[in-house]
Amino acid sequence: MTGSRIVGSGSALPEQIVTNHDLAARVDTSDEWIIERTGIRQRHIAGEGETTSTLAIAAARAALADAGLTPADIDLIVLATATPDNTFPATATKVQHALGCPNGPAFDVGAVCSGFLYALTTADSLLTTGAARRALVIGAETFSRILDWEDRTTCVLFGDGAGAVVLEAPDQARPAQNGGPGVLASRLHADGAQHDLLYVDGGPSSTQTVGHLRMKGREVFRHAVVNLTNVLHEVLDDAGVCADDIDWIVPHQANKRILDATAKKLGLPAEKVIVTVDMHANTSAASVPLAFDMARRDGRIKPGDLVMFEAMGGGFTWGASLVRI
Ligand code: ACO
Repeated sequence: MTGSRIVGSGSALPEQIVTNHDLAARVDTSDEWIIERTGIRQRHIAGEGETTSTLAIAAARAALADAGLTPADIDLIVLATATPDNTFPATATKVQHALGCPNGPAFDVGAVCSGFLYALTTADSLLTTGAARRALVIGAETFSRILDWEDRTTCVLFGDGAGAVVLEAPDQARPAQNGGPGVLASRLHADGAQHDLLYVDGGPSSTQTVGHLRMKGREVFRHAVVNLTNVLHEVLDDAGVCADDIDWIVPHQANKRILDATAKKLGLPAEKVIVTVDMHANTSAASVPLAFDMARRDGRIKPGDLVMFEAMGGGFTWGASLVRI
């Protein structure tokens, strides 16, 4: 039996665009280096007054409108972020208040770049047990606020944005038939031993500061391809389908070379990979729902398509979900 269904999506980006050329004026880098090593051409950066919650609220509103639903229809909000507006309360509660959702819990999930996979799997579990009927699942980030803008090895890689989906519980009375829409399989993993390869060097309990992102990029890259390839095979096995059956892969957008390497290991052609890293850079938990929303809206992803979501991030954490749209 399939799990909950995606019935709408939305996304939001800050207005301000920062190109590689703009960054080359600030740190010792170049458009050529960034494009060749990452595929990134530009990123959106939050301006004054724009925060993780304002982006999340805009994406959530767009997703509700797309689903043809109202805030009263939502009884669960799960928001993935590593850059909350405040240490507490959860940014999800700001979304809940701004939208005026009267029902159900609202909480944040912290799994950095794989946050959306964690949020989607958590919401799907609550919906399939009957704890809620309809969930807003959001990935929203303002990584520009935790970057060391003097560090060329990290500041060129990230951007800000938000993406959201509306997830609806399966109809218990009429379980989806094979081939019907819904989550088919999901897997999540974590390996805290790799903490030092990707982390923020501050926090309320350790330094009483927010801190800056630190990353050993080359090592993260190596782990990413191995972990993602393994989890993709696990999910395919769980769902009982083969890689050829996938219509679209919507990966976390960290680096075009990771996207290419992972697709190649699965034997998938590049045309099946949704790529937004060139326009958005790495928006952490926002990147998967942002890319999904863009590909739905431009008509590539259609009802009936089999879509694989996958991501890896700090922790390490990683995961994948296979969903029939
Ligand atoms: N401009 C110019 N030169 C640079 C820049 C820059 N912006 N950054 C680094 N360099 C230099 C380095 O100093 C190094 O110079 P050296 O050889 O003289 O020492 C050289 O370029 C090569 O550096 P590497 O780090 O080896 O370059 P690499 O090809 O590995 O690319 C990158 C770096 C883009 C960071 C890559 O390793 C990567 O994408 N890693 C994965 C990141 C990732 O997946 N993150 C996902 C999770 S993010 C999250 O969870 C928050």
